[in-house]
Amino acid sequence: MNIVFYGGGNIAQAFIEGLINSGYKKNNIFYIDRNLKNKNKLKKLKIKSLNNKESLQIDLFILAVKPKDAIHAYKDILKNYRNPKIVSFVAGIRTNKYKHINKKVEFLRAMPNTSSKFNLGITAIYNSSFKKSNLLKVINIFKKVGIVMQLEKESKIDTFTGIIGSGPAYFFYLLKIYEKKLLTLCNGNKKEVNAIIVNLMKGV
Ligand SMILES: NC(=O)c1ccc[n+]([C@@H]2O[C@H](COP(=O)([O-])OP(=O)(O)OC[C@H]3O[C@@H](n4cnc5c(N)ncnc54)[C@H](OP(=O)(O)O)[C@@H]3O)[C@@H](O)[C@H]2O)c1
Repeated sequence: MNIVFYGGGNIAQAFIEGLINSGYKKNNIFYIDRNLKNKNKLKKLKIKSLNNKESLQIDLFILAVKPKDAIHAYKDILKNYRNPKIVSFVAGIRTNKYKHINKKVEFLRAMPNTSSKFNLGITAIYNSSFKKSNLLKVINIFKKVGIVMQLEKESKIDTFTGIIGSGPAYFFYLLKIYEKKLLTLCNGNKKEVNAIIVNLMKGV
């Protein structure tokens, strides 16, 4: 399947790295981006930029731009590609807003997290109009970078984003507090503190 990431920033790069780790062929991954820093990062990963004139069969677009850029990017895809299938990673913009622009597009929302980079991701999916066979293909791609959860209600994506999307940050915040207290207990011995924290986590 040829996948195009529209927006090649943080989450696209994490997802792409996870895909590559899982054995997904780099030749089947493309991106559209304007940011030089992100372009260079993707170049390092040997991922090609999509040339608009390319007569490539694109099986899936992944919308991975910031919310403020999402509608423009969505319209740009509709303008330049016939019958695109679009997955939106964008937080906060509900399906209706896209559907309002075009009802016929196969569209779903997915919310991954950056742990996808290490194939330990958790992705929530809310399907709106993907046909069953295409939905299964998308789920199989997402499973390559971690666990997939299908949500039956769109509003659950917001809860998911708060708990799982920001999950690693909460977790590290808690670990920082533990580390600080333990450093006092262990007279600043970092090695000992690390060993204690690892044992604590393993024992849970
Ligand atoms: N980061 C996460 O952990 C995470 C997790 C789940 C979902 N998401 C969602 O994923 C989306 C992307 O987040 P991110 O953190 O990856 O953002 P990001 O790092 O800013 O990446 C977005 C990229 O898209 C480019 N872009 C935007 N509009 C464009 C256009 N019209 N043409 C070409 N390139 C364009 C941006 O370029 P410029 O920098 O020049 O604007 C930027 O390089 C957000 O909507 C967010 O809600 C993020």
